[in-house]
Amino acid sequence: MQVVHTVEALREALQAHDKGPVFVPTMGSLHEGHLALAQQARALQAGPVVTSIFVNRLQFGPNEDFDRYPRTLDDDADKLRQAGTVDILFAPDEQALYPEPQNYRVSVPAHLGDILEGEFRPGFFEGVCTVVLKLFACVQPQAAVFGKKDYQQLLVVRNMCRQFLLPIQILAQDTVRETSGLALSSRNRYLTPAQLKEATRLYAGLHGLQQQMMAGATDILALENAMYADLERHGWHVDYVAIRRRADLQQPQADDLVEPDRLVALVAARLGGTRLIDNLEL
Ligand code: PAJ
Repeated sequence: MQVVHTVEALREALQAHDKGPVFVPTMGSLHEGHLALAQQARALQAGPVVTSIFVNRLQFGPNEDFDRYPRTLDDDADKLRQAGTVDILFAPDEQALYPEPQNYRVSVPAHLGDILEGEFRPGFFEGVCTVVLKLFACVQPQAAVFGKKDYQQLLVVRNMCRQFLLPIQILAQDTVRETSGLALSSRNRYLTPAQLKEATRLYAGLHGLQQQMMAGATDILALENAMYADLERHGWHVDYVAIRRRADLQQPQADDLVEPDRLVALVAARLGGTRLIDNLEL
């Protein structure tokens, strides 16, 4: 695996390959979820697999964890080497990706960018899309793999590619979980052992919603409220519990309820100072 830190070095490394790369963007602090994305990229047997590690300031709010976000580049590189799925690791510093103030930004339509995550993290998807567009410009991949763990992000990036006619296939990777059900996340390392145990309630709640939908429940609001209240009762501060349409994350209409496989349940909640998100297709 080749490790490069500048856009120039990346372009030079890519020149050695004649097929278009498959790209896996990350912010590092890698876990099995990230490795599954790289595995899927490798399994395509297309061009070189490129992973990026860059903690993107633009997608963090002023009171979020940009400064304390874990930065573990050497460990991350070791994990990728061991997995053997990545050809090029692109780990730019801020100067390489933002040599001047980034005042051209991707604006995300409000109906998708200002709901759910976007409501509680204003500017988040603008920051994500801006860096993803820049990373796409650096890597020029034929395909890129994103996790369903960040369900709304996957949709936002897909729509951005479609509207800007970017010839990049966006592939989705299922969420990788602990045996407890807890979705792997770089932020799990902020949790105390007691919180780690409590954190499993997030997936258990989603799973409960899925069971109730499968048993024929149709009162979406009641289901959302019950999970919301259960989390709050156990010490969580809930941002949202929402059952939405998979295709556009809008509120389900009557005919969506006839086919629950059109729906997804999404949750974001804080445990102590740590904000966790998860979702489950129903
Ligand atoms: P990061 O949180 O590091 O996640 C990188 C990719 O890994 C995303 O596509 C995310 O959905 C996926 N991922 C995270 N946890 C996962 C899990 N448990 N199972 C499967 N996939 C998982 O998402 C970002 O970084 C950034 O917003 C980024 C796209 C890199 C732009 O800065």
